[in-house]
Amino acid sequence: MFSDLDQGARDILAGNDQGGYTVPSIGLYPYQWNWDSAFVALGFSTYDNDRAWREIETLFSGQWADGMVPHILYHEHMDGYFPGPDIWGGIGPVPSSGISQPPVAISFARRIFEKDPAQGRGRLAELYPSMLAWHRWFMRWRLDEGAVCATHPWEAGRDNAPDWDLAMSRIPKDVGTYTRCDIQHVSPEMRPHDDDYDRYIWLVQLGKRLNWDQAQLLLANPFRVADPTMTFVCLRAARDLLEVGQELHFDVEHLEDDISQLEDGVASLWNDSIGCYDSRTVPGGFTGVQSSASFLSWYAGVKDHRQLPKLRRALEQVRYPVASVDADSAEFDPLRYWRGPTWGFMNFMIASGLAEFGLEDEAESLRDSTRSLIRQSGFFEYYSPVDGQAAGGGSFAWTAAVWLAWAGPYAEDLR
Ligand code: GLC
Repeated sequence: MFSDLDQGARDILAGNDQGGYTVPSIGLYPYQWNWDSAFVALGFSTYDNDRAWREIETLFSGQWADGMVPHILYHEHMDGYFPGPDIWGGIGPVPSSGISQPPVAISFARRIFEKDPAQGRGRLAELYPSMLAWHRWFMRWRLDEGAVCATHPWEAGRDNAPDWDLAMSRIPKDVGTYTRCDIQHVSPEMRPHDDDYDRYIWLVQLGKRLNWDQAQLLLANPFRVADPTMTFVCLRAARDLLEVGQELHFDVEHLEDDISQLEDGVASLWNDSIGCYDSRTVPGGFTGVQSSASFLSWYAGVKDHRQLPKLRRALEQVRYPVASVDADSAEFDPLRYWRGPTWGFMNFMIASGLAEFGLEDEAESLRDSTRSLIRQSGFFEYYSPVDGQAAGGGSFAWTAAVWLAWAGPYAEDLR
């Protein structure tokens, strides 16, 4: 079966497809973004597995010699985008940013492989050493007590989340003049403040000055936050690497140790005083923020239902959950990006973890509400959890992909 919205979603992927990679949203995000592409690949895999593999292969074509896979790949030159490749000074084979993003691509490569093992075996085997090198890079450069740290708010993919407020306050704002591009496409009320933006750019300038030398950045970068998004996604990726590695007869010995280290990291993010997983500023301690990323623990395969009451509350407190920040908290701002809005791709990850643990009612209720949201408001970047108002960029690739892979009524039961 097939609906008009399925066709609409495919049209968005086709419209954003640049041949080998897909931009998140034309105009607002005109290059290849790392974790966006992973979701897009999953969307393509519902009707074109070959194209799905290509999306991931193109992403890995930008991998740096040290194993890092950048968060933006500027495959083609375009005038006027800020911050462009010259601002970053990336040192990889493709002009790029200098930070990474949560490695969902590793886990989704496994899902795509499992849909058609005969066709995917060779392609996965080809990618495996690169995926392992990326995983090792996180383990080498991003750990704190086993939890994975973001070294820039953009690295965790939750740009202006309140989790970063303390770490951000340590960053200077003297960056010279520049023109933001994002607010030429989207209303400033739905985007980070200028003060945040100055600090994002300061961090980019620091990285470029140090030529993205991770050993030096470890000492010089004042922004380091152990974060649930990075930790849960890296843990899931490590488990998938282990499974797939065994299947393909790679040497996977050290992965078990890595997994237990990451599990220790997960334990270090449990904030008993708020009853859920939280970010930790390094140094500085818990941020006290319940975010949608807190609920990725099930996705990571963490057998721990202590935050189930919080999740159930999150599912009931607003009409269109999951709010990116607890809607009962003072920080909640329903349209400002990562300070309140609901993101479809996050719901997909949360629900797929819940379903894997047999929490079917919660998983299905989230799928239903996400489906209604997209039906009501279209394929937007994010939405108000209160009334479902569309926000951010339109014709958004990962929202379309999530519809095809999970939220749409005819999506396969892909968890
Ligand atoms: C924003 C999001 C990030 C995403 C990017 C492209 O920066 O916070 O997660 O990857 O847009 O969609």
